[in-house]
Amino acid sequence: MCGIVGYVGSRRAVDVLLQGLRRLEYRGYDSAGIALLTGDAIDVVKSSGKLENVEHLIDGSREKLAASTCGIGHTRWATHGKPTTQNAHPHRTGHVVLVHNGIIENYQDIRRRLVARGHKPESETDSELFGFLVLEEMDKGRSLCDAVRAGFLQIEGSCSVVVMSEKEPGMIVGVRNGSPLVAAHDPDGGMFIASDAQPLVEYTKEVIFLENGDLVAGSRTGLKISSLADGNVIARPVTRIDWSAERMDKQGWPHYMLKEIYEQPAALSETLNGILDRATGEPFVLADQKGLQTLKNATRISLVACGSSWHAALLGKYWLERWGRIAVDVELASEFRYRDPVLQEGTVIVGISQSGETADTLAVMREAKTRGIQTAAITNVRGSTISREADSVFYTCAGPEIGVAATKTFLSQLLVQLIWAGWLGKTRGALNPARTASLFDELIRLPHLLEDYMRPDGVMAQTVRSTAKALLGIKGFFFIGRGYSFPVALEGALKLKEIAYIHAEGYAAGELKHGPIAMIDGNMAVVVLAPQDSWREKTVSNLEEVKARGARIVGVGGGNDSSLKELCDFWIPLPVSTKHKIDEGLLPVVLAPVVQLLSYETALLKGTDVDKPRNLAKSVTVE
Ligand code: AGP
Repeated sequence: MCGIVGYVGSRRAVDVLLQGLRRLEYRGYDSAGIALLTGDAIDVVKSSGKLENVEHLIDGSREKLAASTCGIGHTRWATHGKPTTQNAHPHRTGHVVLVHNGIIENYQDIRRRLVARGHKPESETDSELFGFLVLEEMDKGRSLCDAVRAGFLQIEGSCSVVVMSEKEPGMIVGVRNGSPLVAAHDPDGGMFIASDAQPLVEYTKEVIFLENGDLVAGSRTGLKISSLADGNVIARPVTRIDWSAERMDKQGWPHYMLKEIYEQPAALSETLNGILDRATGEPFVLADQKGLQTLKNATRISLVACGSSWHAALLGKYWLERWGRIAVDVELASEFRYRDPVLQEGTVIVGISQSGETADTLAVMREAKTRGIQTAAITNVRGSTISREADSVFYTCAGPEIGVAATKTFLSQLLVQLIWAGWLGKTRGALNPARTASLFDELIRLPHLLEDYMRPDGVMAQTVRSTAKALLGIKGFFFIGRGYSFPVALEGALKLKEIAYIHAEGYAAGELKHGPIAMIDGNMAVVVLAPQDSWREKTVSNLEEVKARGARIVGVGGGNDSSLKELCDFWIPLPVSTKHKIDEGLLPVVLAPVVQLLSYETALLKGTDVDKPRNLAKSVTVE
């Protein structure tokens, strides 16, 4: 989704803005632009397409722009109006220049009124209209800050803006009312503002997450937060971010996604460290105690999520029901929120969201709260809207995930739910303490197992690479599995669609014969996830059915499963077998990296934009 960066202080603003926008590229965008104050004038440079286009445009005037220490920048993900240069931000209206995230819902009404008053909007966006409102208010003699406040009170919808004016050079005013905004003092004097903390961490670790209804005004002397509604000054807490700028760089990997796939053992260890006390084997010592009580007292859990997080929730259901012995529903947030569901007392709604900003998931949690239902969140981003609005929050510690396709956050979400399941089982008397302890022991060993398995020159990586190469040009893919492997099959198909743009379906293996098997011919590949678990024999029967119809079979199975290997055209062995066992419930943790890597290698061969796939955004803050 759209990204905002703003800066005023003593640094070279062009560098702060461009570097900041690069840090936000992962969110997905289709045009970009910056506005810089030089003297009393603001120059706007913007372009459709990638940020590099903007950089090329400013090449000729870099020297002039280098003097600027104040500006705003934006990456736009089109909602109202095509991804053209004209629709790109920043938008200029007379002396007012602005960037905007989110949606102005009453934009048609505002446009009509503005046109009737003689204004001529040039773009198709809702964003530009806000500039006219500020302009009109400043023409009445209001300061930039007061004009932004008065203008904002005329719009409806969930959005944020950051505005400058040539009439008040050196002042930046931002409002958060929906889309996230984070502000920070520059330790050298001045202020940063951005749509998330990532552009700020190389300058400061102390950030302020603005709340809805906050207005922030910044200048060389610092920043002041006040209430949008009444102008009263507000003190917001400072949050310390522990992400380093280094962790956000590619560090030699060709893509963030590949780096993040290989960071999964570390993401698991970090997440474990944040939850489990190794000495006592007790979970949650470091986590939110209120959240524990919420879970303990729950009579039913509804896991609500979208995309990969929804797949993680599907697995959560298996574990929480098997070990925790609690009834679990899994809901797609975009469906749940409009279904008028029956929510009984004792139900806990758990929003799972790596970004913590997904609009549909957030809406469900807000609705639950209005109905008096307890909410909890599993998220990777401290200070995200979902983390702040949930009654309790459990963090995955995967570190920043820049690739649009979720990988290490997905695996970390699995881990948190596994620990919930073990802990709930023990607490509710469904698992004896020794069984919980052995489950946790296995979890502690998982990162090591994965690290050995996931060497870039290891057998898994090599067989995945050669499989992807051999199947390049195939018409489509099915990913099939049963039991714990089914949600992983769904995730594998989603990954392939997202980054390689190849049609792929994830199916419960037993469902193929109820329709989709009609699609199978020699030009289809079927990835069969058949580890040596309770479902293996049944899955192998389903494999035989598609093999008989000519499909190219990619088998992913136990390291010593030679009879399965013989049935497959391509074979990817797992690091577990009948000799080296792990609990079958934990198999998704070793299966997921295989399907992630298969998608990555296929996308690489196709030459797609792996980290920023077309039409996608990292945090989906619109419905
Ligand atoms: C995952 O690869 C996708 N980019 C997408 O499906 C994502 O999982 C979904 O949008 C939910 O995002 P969230 O976890 O940030 O809520």
